Amino acid sequence: MVAASQTTGEGWSSRTAFILAAVGAAVGLGNIWRFPTLAGESGGGAFVIVYIACVFLLGLPLVLSEIFIGRAGQTDAVGSIRRVATQSKASPGWSIFGGIGALAAFLILSFYSVVAGWVLYYAGVLGADFVQALLAGDPFRGALAGESQAQIQQRLDDMFANVGLLLVVHLFFMGLTLFIVARGVHAGIEKAATILMPIFFALLVGLVIYGAIEGDMGEAMTFLFTPDWSKLTPAVMNSALGQALFSLSLGVAGLITYGSYIKSDGGLGPTSAMIAMADTSVALLAGLMIFPIVFSVGLDPASGPTLVFQSLPFAFQTMPGGALIGFLFFMLILVAAVTSSISLLEVPTAWGIGERGWSRTKSAAIFGGGAFVFGIFSLLSFNLWSDVRILGFWDIFAETNIFDTIDGFTGKIMLPVGALLTSLFVGWKADRNLVRTTTGLSPAMFGLWRFLIAWLCPLAVTVILVTGLFPAILGS
Ligand code: PHE
Repeated sequence: MVAASQTTGEGWSSRTAFILAAVGAAVGLGNIWRFPTLAGESGGGAFVIVYIACVFLLGLPLVLSEIFIGRAGQTDAVGSIRRVATQSKASPGWSIFGGIGALAAFLILSFYSVVAGWVLYYAGVLGADFVQALLAGDPFRGALAGESQAQIQQRLDDMFANVGLLLVVHLFFMGLTLFIVARGVHAGIEKAATILMPIFFALLVGLVIYGAIEGDMGEAMTFLFTPDWSKLTPAVMNSALGQALFSLSLGVAGLITYGSYIKSDGGLGPTSAMIAMADTSVALLAGLMIFPIVFSVGLDPASGPTLVFQSLPFAFQTMPGGALIGFLFFMLILVAAVTSSISLLEVPTAWGIGERGWSRTKSAAIFGGGAFVFGIFSLLSFNLWSDVRILGFWDIFAETNIFDTIDGFTGKIMLPVGALLTSLFVGWKADRNLVRTTTGLSPAMFGLWRFLIAWLCPLAVTVILVTGLFPAILGS
């Protein structure tokens, strides 16, 4: 038996490296695919405002709490919580939520890689299209010239029907994730984040400017920022909180794990605020990138998960430079997805290193390989097994395929439970002096943070959990 909580022994080379990696973890499919989808389906402004409130009142205190645990614990999530618990004279049993988090990260990774595979395929299709445009001497033509809207939409259905193709792109994406994580915190994760995040921001700003020039920015602004309070149902509030947790990567012990690689002292407050602000800005910018384009060609903002895959390629067809822009758009999503998937794999990988004494390569291979295999269940939800209902006995999952069931189970149950336990542990059990000295918060900020983490978070998250699990309470 390996000594419990041996340190994983690695670290970020600077605070900037940590911030880039943490922002990279936060910014992902959640910002560019899930956020616009939910905002579109939930009527825009009201959802956006509740989401922003959730980020700053609940998300930010939780970000600080997770980083605190990691910084104080200096090892994988389970070991870090155990160490903070011991130092605070609390039960080491609290470390269970590190285990729940690692399991949730593994489950999310399994379907995250499937969606990222679709993005990879679309980046390939539009990349090839752009090369053709170049070869034809017409680099600024629209995307997928000559295809009708029906043909462009059909492409997604054809992709879903092609199990072999889905497996290849899923395998490729998981392989890339595994490769980076196996290289380690410094040579793998940090390097990927410091190279990819600046590229990501440059692409994002470029595409927003493009949308502002070529698209209908006015209508997009109205849609995203004018609240129609009549649309604010409990279900919308529920999904706004879920989205805030998912987008900030909370409840899966990801920031505990990343926080454990911080070696320098103090200043966790400003660092946490930067992470929350960067993540939220990217979600809003993604909205300001996508909706002007959607509105300018008269598409439906509420078209759901297919918005990005069916609506936008059609929009790129009619817009100048669309072939190039379409390719860059999917590359942008791909970059965001990679820096998030590595954080998902890192959580269980660090657990294997810290709690089981495995080598990094072995641990990453076990969990990355396992998530690939497990992901195949999600992948088959779009074709062969579309009728399979793994939790069909449970009314909230009675109608959902395997993919949506795992997404729903992690998002609606595991993340809120993880967030709830984190807030109870850090708000009530962790030694206050340890929190003060580790976070470097001023007395006033400490008071504010403690109110939010000890009172508001547990209450709000419990309400959301219960209403999410028992929709009958909401009458829906
Ligand atoms: N925050 C990531 C995104 O928005 C998803 C994620 C969730 C990553 C949980 C890590 C942990 O895409």
